[in-house]
Amino acid sequence: MAKYSKIISCGSYLPEKVINNSDLPAILETSDEWIRARTGITQRHIAADGELTSDLAAKAAKIALEKAGLAAVDLIIVATTTPDTTFPATAVSVQKKLGMHSGFAFDIQAVCSGFVYAMNMADIYIKSGQAKTALVIGAETITRILDWADRGTCVLFGDGAGAVILGESDEPGILSAKLHSDGQFQQELYVDGGVSINQQAGLLRMNGKEVFRHAVEKMGNVVLEALEDADYGIEDVKWLIPHQANQRIMDAIAKRFKIDSDKVLSAVAKHANTSAASIPLAICEHEAKLKSGDLVALTALGAGFTWGSIILKW
Ligand code: UT7
Repeated sequence: MAKYSKIISCGSYLPEKVINNSDLPAILETSDEWIRARTGITQRHIAADGELTSDLAAKAAKIALEKAGLAAVDLIIVATTTPDTTFPATAVSVQKKLGMHSGFAFDIQAVCSGFVYAMNMADIYIKSGQAKTALVIGAETITRILDWADRGTCVLFGDGAGAVILGESDEPGILSAKLHSDGQFQQELYVDGGVSINQQAGLLRMNGKEVFRHAVEKMGNVVLEALEDADYGIEDVKWLIPHQANQRIMDAIAKRFKIDSDKVLSAVAKHANTSAASIPLAICEHEAKLKSGDLVALTALGAGFTWGSIILKW
């Protein structure tokens, strides 16, 4: 059985259409200055009509597969909160779009923590011997569930997909993972609809201030927990890759850890918050900086709340 799972390659896809901050005052009371100052966001990508989460995911996955020199994988996990349909899973649509007929594919729903949850799952499948290769994708068309009249939320999000391929390895790859959830915080971030409630997808609702406070505290704490399990300290981390919700959240974590903000990899300015896709998109954006053997910490917090961290060697 494999000792480790390790990232072999990554790929990303952002829809063509871009909405700049300066486009938004035409539709709601906001300004480029406010959005930049409070979030660090300058623009976001928006999926075209008819462009599905599985289309974004398949495009990102194709790039990762090509880079890895693979035609197929044993396992596909899609982390998404905006699936194409209620069922079947978006992951099987991706499997079809990639022309794969073997292996197994499923979705995971942990909202903005979905990619961290999915990486942990894929690692377990690989270490148990049930899969030798896994495609782990974060993909969202989250702008479809925004209330474009709510300036407190609609300026924050964007669409996109990022994918990594994990393969079995004798060299250290994923070293530890720590996941948490606490359903008592559901009302801080949720959609006001659902199949079981009203047969609607619903729109995103958020108590931004509370989510911000928990994000700084919990994303930081869980990194320390996962590092402890891997027998490392924060001083050993070469790159911290947090969920990309707000530059101020990332800056607050860097300040708390007294680490140079250059070590905290950010893509929020151009991507905005792409929920489950934000971490793999940030990985791809900064791929050139990541060198073999670098200690990397991933951390996320999402609706639920769910939160978690993965410590890995690049
Ligand atoms: O992916 C899941 C995780 N999500 C997050 O981590 C998001 C966490 N939360 C945040 O990033 C921030 O709380 C926000 C960016 C959502 C809001 O920033 P804030 O500094 O907490 O602002 P606020 O909500 O306290 O609003 C301050 C003011 C308010 O006006 P008043 O009441 O002071 O007159 C808002 O109405 O800013 C106003 N405001 C805006 N003004 C211009 C809120 N949204 C906007 C806007 N443009 N888009």
